[in-house]
Amino acid sequence: MPTNADDLHAFLRTRRSIRRFKPNPSTSLRTSPVPASAIERILTSATFAPSAHNLQPWRFCVATDSSVKTRLGQALTSAMRADMLSEGASESEIEKRVANSIRRINEAPVIILLCRDTTAVRAETPEETIMAIQSVAAAGTYLLLAAHAEGLGGNWICWPLYAQEETRQALELPETWEPQAMFLVGCAAEIPEARERKPLNEVVIRR
Ligand SMILES: Cc1cc2nc3c(=O)[nH]c(=O)nc-3n(C[C@H](O)[C@H](O)[C@H](O)COP(=O)(O)O)c2cc1C
Repeated sequence: MPTNADDLHAFLRTRRSIRRFKPNPSTSLRTSPVPASAIERILTSATFAPSAHNLQPWRFCVATDSSVKTRLGQALTSAMRADMLSEGASESEIEKRVANSIRRINEAPVIILLCRDTTAVRAETPEETIMAIQSVAAAGTYLLLAAHAEGLGGNWICWPLYAQEETRQALELPETWEPQAMFLVGCAAEIPEARERKPLNEVVIRR
């Protein structure tokens, strides 16, 4: 664990989006390479993210059961299929993308769905709604860093945004839980090279 500023910066900069996970040791034993205690620590640290008015609008659904993952995969890919069809994609393109998405969901040892509780806002104004979504995104970032602290890999996935209702129904979530993102978490099978970052002079103006 980092002990000084240099170590902390190195820790922040070595997080990667992990897209390939080590398989579960044995599916018949229902064991997971991710201990439940690690997931608890990750979720707890995610709740230490800042939030507008400290309203903590984030909600989490943890899925490890293969039948639940199958339901989630069906929900997400049915919306994906419909969107791709309406955009004129070919059957083979659609099937390839759907199969790849289902494989990624099934292979992830743990899936954490991140939702926004639509009742956790100070007022129903566009600005307050954006603040709540920003707060939920902050929890998503904390979650990825907490997984990194556990020596685990994670990947932020945006698909639930395109299938909010289907996702909510597949996981039997409360009506006020609005899916925002999904995180695939597990032991990295491979750690990719760092993706290029824009230099500071492109993204910072100093006055
Ligand atoms: C809002 C958001 C949505 C993302 N959606 C996806 C996604 O659907 N699929 C995926 O593989 N990665 C997704 N990513 C991960 C980005 O591709 C990744 O963070 C970026 O390429 C930089 O790579 P790094 O995280 O390894 O530094 C998403 C990241 C964010 C913040």
